Amino acid sequence: MNTKILKINDNSLKLSKNIIESNELVAMPTETVYGLGGLATSDVAVEKIFKAKGRPSDNPLIVHVHKDYDFTKLVYVDHDYVYDLINAFMPGPLTLVMRHKGAVSKLVTCNLDTLAIRVPDHEGCQEFLKYLDLPIAAPSANVSKHTSPVTAEHVYDDLNGKIEVILDGGKCKGGIESTVLDVTKQVPVILRSGLVTAEMIKRVVGACEYVDNMADSEVVRSPGMKYVHYTPKCNTVLFERNELPLAQELYDKLLAKGKVPVFMCDDKVSHKLCGEKLQLGVSGEEIASNLYYKLLEGEKIADYLIAIKINTGSEVDVGVMNRLSKACKPFKREDYIDILGEL
Ligand code: TXA
Ligand code: MG
Repeated sequence: MNTKILKINDNSLKLSKNIIESNELVAMPTETVYGLGGLATSDVAVEKIFKAKGRPSDNPLIVHVHKDYDFTKLVYVDHDYVYDLINAFMPGPLTLVMRHKGAVSKLVTCNLDTLAIRVPDHEGCQEFLKYLDLPIAAPSANVSKHTSPVTAEHVYDDLNGKIEVILDGGKCKGGIESTVLDVTKQVPVILRSGLVTAEMIKRVVGACEYVDNMADSEVVRSPGMKYVHYTPKCNTVLFERNELPLAQELYDKLLAKGKVPVFMCDDKVSHKLCGEKLQLGVSGEEIASNLYYKLLEGEKIADYLIAIKINTGSEVDVGVMNRLSKACKPFKREDYIDILGEL
């Protein structure tokens, strides 16, 4: 199959509708990352999503709908605060996990009694969803475990030959996936952090809890969080902000061995490092917006991506560090004895 990248217009929308209604897949832009969309009510389509990504079958999908879609056809709204969240953040990078009514394929929910719903804040995506007027299941449009795509070309790199059409909506502004929020309880619980932060939710609802699924060995409430994620194809290493001299030493010694190391850091520390750099920006939002783009640039040019933890003081740092610490291996001296030598 020859994968086409198409601008969003009448022709590509018509073609995409045919593809979706034939239970095939279309990649679509959103304001966070690109999604790999298929008809949520179709077992056949949803099975193809899992297959195209190589995704574990116990990791449920988010269903995307346009802003005028009545999603109470799909889920129960159990608490009044949910309407306040909808008013404040939808459309936007917030996914709500609610009890479902059994209207979509069981493969979407992996047999859970809840369904994740999202209304993307992206004009082209809204046009696509409105044109279809159907619930679209869509994980990020990358091969499982790889960095999520934020341009149509990134999707092409991962899924070329596996899908017919990628709708091109430009570079995603948000840059990291939506906040996943369980709203089935009295107090909402963040299952995956993102650009809608705990503090933003607290300001609307009054309270918000956060489950760090990586630290929690009990029941994993957002199954996706237990897997390795977001990893670029080159070697990666993540340093603390107070380890810059060590990061520099590793860079210099790798270079001396004929390797290609590249730093990835925010603009505040970049002037303290000497060598090739991928700069992420200054503010939390800017860094989130650049993170996957730079990771994917890094894997093309570097043998070793040497990343420095970020700390802007912004509420968004939680979401960015959650991704960065899963994408890059924390520095351990024993991994680099042959390059750095014993202490
Ligand atoms: O921004 C986004 O959310 C992007 C764009 C394409 O919309 N989508 C995305 O999908 O990141 P995906 O499949 O890569 O991540 C979905 C996350 C996973 O961590 C999954 O475990 C969680 O949402 N999830 C989905 N349904 C759930 C449910 N019923 N209960 C708990 N977690 C759920
Ligand atoms: Mg994903």
